[in-house]
Amino acid sequence: MNRVLKGKNILIGVCGGIAAYKVCDLASRLKKRDMNIDIIMTEASANFINPLTFQSLTSNKVIMNMFETSYDNEIQHIYLAKKADIVLIAPATANIIGKIAAGIADDMLTTTIMATKAPIVIAPAMNSNMYENSILQENISKLKKRGYVFIEPVEGRLACGDTGRGKMAEPVYIENYIESFFAASADLKGKKVIVTAGPTQEAIDPVRFITNHSTGKMGYAIAQKAALRGAYVDLISGPTVLAPPLGVNTINVISAEEMYKKIMELYDKADIVIKGAAVADYAPFNTTEQKIKKDEGNLTIELKKNPDILYELGKNKENKILVGFAMETQNLIENAKEKVAKKNLDFIVANDLKIEGAGFATDTNIVKLIFKDGSIESIPKMSKLDLADIILDRVVSILN
Ligand code: PMT
Repeated sequence: MNRVLKGKNILIGVCGGIAAYKVCDLASRLKKRDMNIDIIMTEASANFINPLTFQSLTSNKVIMNMFETSYDNEIQHIYLAKKADIVLIAPATANIIGKIAAGIADDMLTTTIMATKAPIVIAPAMNSNMYENSILQENISKLKKRGYVFIEPVEGRLACGDTGRGKMAEPVYIENYIESFFAASADLKGKKVIVTAGPTQEAIDPVRFITNHSTGKMGYAIAQKAALRGAYVDLISGPTVLAPPLGVNTINVISAEEMYKKIMELYDKADIVIKGAAVADYAPFNTTEQKIKKDEGNLTIELKKNPDILYELGKNKENKILVGFAMETQNLIENAKEKVAKKNLDFIVANDLKIEGAGFATDTNIVKLIFKDGSIESIPKMSKLDLADIILDRVVSILN
C-alpha cells in the first residue's frame, strides 16, 4: 500500500547516537513506500553510521557539510528546507533538542530546521537520566508549545547497559506516524470504528486462567490502519504485549465479560465494528478468592457460557457495519457462513488455523472473506497490516 506516502518528500536529520542504525531500517522502509528521502547527517552521527549507507538506501546524496558546493547551484539548506513535506530528526540527541530550543543554527541540520516551514517531528534517543533531566524536559515542553511533534522514546535496556526510558521508538512505529500524518484526508475520516483484539483471560483463581494463543497482531493491525485512514478508533484489547497503536484509543480489558461491557458502552456511537479478538466462549463458573490447592485426585472446573458479544451486537445492527472473524480448524467456509447469518454480519474474515502462515501469532494471514450475500473472496498470504487494508477497503465499499 504505497498510495499515502508515494512521492512525498521527507528530510531526515540523523544525529550522533547508536540508534542511528535503526534509522537505516526506517529509511529503507520509507524508500519501499516510494518516498523521496533526503538525509542530513551531523558530524557526530558519522561516527555511528557511514554516510554511504544512507546514500545507498535512499539513492540520494547525503549532506553533512554546510559549505559543500552543491551540484545544482542551490543553497542546500534552503533548498532542502523548502523541498521537505515533513522533517524528521532521528535519533534526536539532547544536544540537537537543546540547540533547536535555543534557536541555534550553526551547522547544516540546525540551519535547515530553522529555514523550513514543514512540520518537524523529533524522535529522541538517549540515556534515561539524560532524558529525565529537567533541562531537556523544559526544552521539549518549549518545542511542543511551538508545534514540534515528539515521538516519545520507549522503555527498555539501553546501549549503555541501563534500563529505562530512552530507546528510540521502533522504525515501524515512526513509519506509521509518518503515514498517519499524510493520511489525514483518508477514506474513513469522520467514522467511529471499534476494533477488538487479542485473547481474553478467564480467571480460575488468583494465579490461573483460561485463555488462547491470540497475540493481538491481527486486531492491532486493523486498528492502526483504520486510524491511518482517518477513523476515530477505539481498540478494545485483551492482554497482549503489543505497544498501543499510534493515534488509537486503546482500552485494555481482561475477560470476555469486561470486553462485552466495554463494547456495549461504545456501540451506540460506532459506525463500524471489527471483531478480531479471540473471545473465550466459556469462563469458570466460580473464580476462587484463594489459590486452589493441589489435592490427591483430579480437579473438575465447571464452566459457564460467556456472552457471545458479536451475536449481541448483531441484534442491534441498524445501519452499522459489522465484521467478524472466524477461526476454524475444519469446514472453514460452512462454519464461517453460519456465523455470518447467525451474528447478522456484513462479512466475516475466515482463517484456518491449520494452514501455515495463517491465524495466531504470525505476522501474516491467509483468509477468505465471506459476505452476507454468500460471495467469497480468497485472499492469499500477506502481512496482517496489508490484510487490514483489504478488510478496510471492503468496509469502505459497503459504506459507499
Ligand atoms: O491475535 P493474532 O495472534 O494475530 O491472531 C489472529 C486471530 C487468529 C485471533 C484472528 O485472526 C481471529 O480469527 N480472531 C477471531 C477468533 C475467534 O474467536 O473466532 P470464533 O470463530 O470463535 O468467533 C467468531 C467471531 O465471534 C469472532 O469475531 C469473535 O470475536 C466473536 N466472538 C466469539 C465468541 C464470543 N463469546 N464473543 C464474540 O464476540
